[in-house]
Amino acid sequence: MEFQKLKENKELEYYIEKCNEYISVLGALEHSIRHSKIVSKRSYYLLKSLEYDERTCLLSSIAGYFHDIGNLINRYEHGRSGALFLLPFLKEIGLSTAEISTILGAIGNHEERTGFIVNPVASAVIIADKSELYKQRVRKKDIATFKQRDRVNFAVQNTSLEVDNVNKTITMYLEIDTSISSVMEYFEIFLTKMLMCQRAANFLKCKFQLFINKVRLL
Ligand SMILES: [Fe+2]
Ligand SMILES: [Fe+2]
Repeated sequence: MEFQKLKENKELEYYIEKCNEYISVLGALEHSIRHSKIVSKRSYYLLKSLEYDERTCLLSSIAGYFHDIGNLINRYEHGRSGALFLLPFLKEIGLSTAEISTILGAIGNHEERTGFIVNPVASAVIIADKSELYKQRVRKKDIATFKQRDRVNFAVQNTSLEVDNVNKTITMYLEIDTSISSVMEYFEIFLTKMLMCQRAANFLKCKFQLFINKVRLL
């Protein structure tokens, strides 16, 4: 199966690990294979729950797995560089031109500053990626050196996604340690990400809901 071939490709595995190493220099969040796997699984789950065909769900797992590979080249515009970087690997495993287009469009549009929701796979990757918050992703060890964004990320204890295909809602649940960051601080820092998730959910003909510590904010 195509996705298996890509996951077992040692060269790609090496590049993902290098991305993580390179962006650690900037103090950016952890972007290891762990992040790739979760975004891949959540992207698949989102489309599967909305009853997209298996092939489209598979494409979303691939796009989710490799969405951050452009960090190897540069943190800025890593969506665009990652899509172009992955192209020969997608050709090599024999995906069709239409399938490759879907994946490249999704990877190239997952960043909130420059991304547009161009297809359902892009929607899935955006929601899966923006919901992957976890305190262990903050690399700095000394809380005294945290910037506001680090503190907010560090406050996240747990995140989950739920799709209700009957009521057409996609819900993100977050648990935040409010002794580290307030809910309003989270909302301030992540508002653009949450609004992007809302647009992505709307593209899938769903409403987007956000609960933080059981309180609905969107
Ligand atoms: Fe990214
Ligand atoms: Fe990511």
